[in-house]
Amino acid sequence: MVTATAQPLLIPYPRSIEMREGYFVLTAKTGIINLSDKNNARLLKHYIEEDININLHEQRGDNNIFLITNRKLKESLGAEGYRMNISTDSIVIEGAENAGVFYGIQTLRQLAAQNRLAIPCMEIFDKPEYEWRDFMLDEARHFKGKVVVKQLLEEMAYLKMNKFHWHLTDDQGWRIEIEKYPRLTQVGAYRDSTQIGGWNSPLYDVNIHGGYYTQEDIREIVDFAAERHIEIVPEIEMPGHTSAAIAAYPELGSLKTPPTVATYFNPTWGVFNVADERVIQFIQDVFDEIFDLFPSRYIHIGGDEVHPESWEANSDISRFMKEKNLDNYSEVQMLFTNRVASLIHSKGRTMIGWNDIMGKNIHEWADSDNESTHALAPYAVVQFWKGDTALIAEALKQGHRVINSSHRDTYLDYNYTKIPLKKAYDFSPFPKGIDRKYKPLLLGSGCQMWSEWIPRIEDMQRQVFPRIAAYAESGWTIENKKNFTRFSTSLSQILIPRWKQKNIAWHKESTPQAE
Ligand code: ACM
Repeated sequence: MVTATAQPLLIPYPRSIEMREGYFVLTAKTGIINLSDKNNARLLKHYIEEDININLHEQRGDNNIFLITNRKLKESLGAEGYRMNISTDSIVIEGAENAGVFYGIQTLRQLAAQNRLAIPCMEIFDKPEYEWRDFMLDEARHFKGKVVVKQLLEEMAYLKMNKFHWHLTDDQGWRIEIEKYPRLTQVGAYRDSTQIGGWNSPLYDVNIHGGYYTQEDIREIVDFAAERHIEIVPEIEMPGHTSAAIAAYPELGSLKTPPTVATYFNPTWGVFNVADERVIQFIQDVFDEIFDLFPSRYIHIGGDEVHPESWEANSDISRFMKEKNLDNYSEVQMLFTNRVASLIHSKGRTMIGWNDIMGKNIHEWADSDNESTHALAPYAVVQFWKGDTALIAEALKQGHRVINSSHRDTYLDYNYTKIPLKKAYDFSPFPKGIDRKYKPLLLGSGCQMWSEWIPRIEDMQRQVFPRIAAYAESGWTIENKKNFTRFSTSLSQILIPRWKQKNIAWHKESTPQAE
């Protein structure tokens, strides 16, 4: 006799669950009746076979799983919500959009995993608290490749995360083929050695490191993500963190001696010469290909950590400052950023940048008077990572949409002493002390896998897993439904067995109840 768990174990936890009498028994004679898109039915069949080795059929069976996209439910369920009614002879999953049905399927997978084949009857109503639930992977510092990315996308989908922020370019590598500028990958995708051992370490691994995605790879990954209702947000860094691009095309840079593809990890002096129209042309050309490859509404331009030294040494920049009446380098960056924002906006897309693009002084290494008096274009989205949370309030007051990626709370490159699992779990995308009226502008949160010190896939996985599950729940689950004890139990009973089965490494000390 199979007994129901008192409370289903689900990550992220749904908005409401009501238990009912009885069970739905999943067998090889269970049918799928599909009134949603083909993709949802195909993936449900694929997932159930892969997860629990039962082969469902897309025809009426002894008992049935109904997938229904019903636009009339938009008001109650929004774009991503679903409701699921599990009774003894049917499971009905309904969403106003296909994404909602897809998330209902993820819930069903977790229920099937914990109950074997007899799933307790219940009714679930569920929708996310935040529309932006992102995971960022930095592949500029260490290239991981498409198998790893697809596996991460699959785990994101299981956790109902919906944005993959792909950090594709930086000082240490350019990872995406751009047909008009072949040297970006011929030259910019490779470095001849790599700093190891930490930020101030003099040690180097002297092997060549590199790799990049062809445009065909990109299209394949974008499609794979889209089937899982994940939008890929590409990040093309500018004007700083651009040594790899400048190594490939030295005319883009500000220094007379162009940098090589960086081999060490502190931010370098690779900064675009934004006073040169060739740089603007380059950006336009690159974006034309980016817009074509990525259907995403959002395009990330980085914008962080622009070290002014290379602009100080450049006479074009001083002339530009006089001409445009700019007082400092923050204002130079602001003018440039707003130009890029408008270029992106004119194509019907939306620019995102790290909160450095607000022109405030957030760096200990910058001059205190290096603040911009010019405002950022209001349609730009600000991804907060550094500085006082008052900066979030300020961005919201100015009407910007904000993604909270506070480094103290969400940086996956930080170790588990700095960000233990509980701290990751307790993180709320909406910061304390900010007026709730700004909730619609606070889109959600991101968690960031910076990859300077994780050359190996297992190292990366241990940084990501299990904390990604905590961020997934912080992004989806309403605050008063969060519960760390329940989360820990669900982690050890649902996710860890899954990760084991998938050969995904996770950080064991952070999960005392595991095994
Ligand atoms: C950042 O961590 N430099 C955004």
